[in-house]
Amino acid sequence: MDNIKISLIGCGFFGQQLALGFTKVGAKLVGVTDLSIDLAENLASKFGVNAYDDIETLLQETKPDLVLIATPNYAHKVPAMMALKYGCHIFIEVPFSIHQKDCEDILSLANEKKRTVFVGHLLRTLPGLMKTKALLEKNVLGKIMVARANRQRWIDDFQDKKWWKNDVNLTGGKLFNEIHELDLLCWLLGDIGSVYAQSTNRAHPNTPDHHDVIQLLLQFKNGVFASLEMGTAYRLHEWGISIYGELGALVVNFFTSTVTLTLSDGTREQFNIYDEFEADLSLRESGKATQKYNSITSLSPLWLNRAVEIEAEIVLKSLSKNDTNNVLSQGIIDAVTVACAARKSIETQQQVKIEYSI
Ligand SMILES: NC(=O)c1ccc[n+]([C@@H]2O[C@H](COP(=O)([O-])OP(=O)(O)OC[C@H]3O[C@@H](n4cnc5c(N)ncnc54)[C@H](O)[C@@H]3O)[C@@H](O)[C@H]2O)c1
Repeated sequence: MDNIKISLIGCGFFGQQLALGFTKVGAKLVGVTDLSIDLAENLASKFGVNAYDDIETLLQETKPDLVLIATPNYAHKVPAMMALKYGCHIFIEVPFSIHQKDCEDILSLANEKKRTVFVGHLLRTLPGLMKTKALLEKNVLGKIMVARANRQRWIDDFQDKKWWKNDVNLTGGKLFNEIHELDLLCWLLGDIGSVYAQSTNRAHPNTPDHHDVIQLLLQFKNGVFASLEMGTAYRLHEWGISIYGELGALVVNFFTSTVTLTLSDGTREQFNIYDEFEADLSLRESGKATQKYNSITSLSPLWLNRAVEIEAEIVLKSLSKNDTNNVLSQGIIDAVTVACAARKSIETQQQVKIEYSI
């Protein structure tokens, strides 16, 4: 994996984590760019590579195999299309995009160029979630009836209204900005047939458009009923997914960093989300901490660093083996498709049918 050359577009909070994670597992960083040349130069100096003023020069001069895209949510498409035109594989941070059409255009060009698009759905790759998926595929719960996901926390009222992370037009709103749980529901349970969604702002009067309570009711094509509740107006933090089948239940609890399988015959099995004590501990501690959005200079917690390393290893292995069929390249448009339908449901106050295009 040592010979895979990567370039990075977007050197903010998460771009820096990606550069660290991908190089730690063997990729060779060959160049970086950012709208802020200071940020790009600062990161480049840490790796002894060049910083570039613009994307095209970066691609022409560094000729990477894989381009990592960690620009803000609204700005994923342009770098993605450019990197594909230059014949590179791409790894795009979540959300894939805030518009379904952008994802379709990117996937269509990737198909034409025979390149792979990876999306950074890193929770999928954690050992406990991979095991959860394998258990569901083994049908341990029998017929699935109902599922419930939530990511509930409190974040103080935003002071800097101009920061892109506080502007719903740039993030796509919380459903897109924190798309992980919706993606896990899609990845674990299959295609969704329809969604009814409602949202409101209860705790952030400085940014009225920024809905801090979001509720989705989902009907899957296989008959499963599910709900997703998320937001930043909840003083009691909760983060997890519960799946109920005819034979038992699987409960993923991110704040205890555990997955618990309870079967109706009385059997109970519990395993951790990580295979390493320190990463599990770090995830457990994250539930207690005061929550806020990460700024460019935020320090990333150990659990998130490890998650990036785990996903990076999967991406590099898949490229080395020329295997495009992997956990970060399959079903990558699904959560955006459902999030777009949910956005429409919020606007129209109607249940919306999901139209999968790919
Ligand atoms: N997987 C995760 O858990 C996770 C965690 C944090 C962030 N993210 C995602 O990573 C992406 C970046 O988030 P962040 O927290 O690093 O934001 P950030 O604001 O810290 O960094 C974004 C950087 O992109 C640069 N940029 C903007 N437009 C650009 C362009 N056209 N060309 C080059 N550079 C450009 C900005 O100058 C900035 O430095 C977002 O999509 C976010 O959702 C994912």
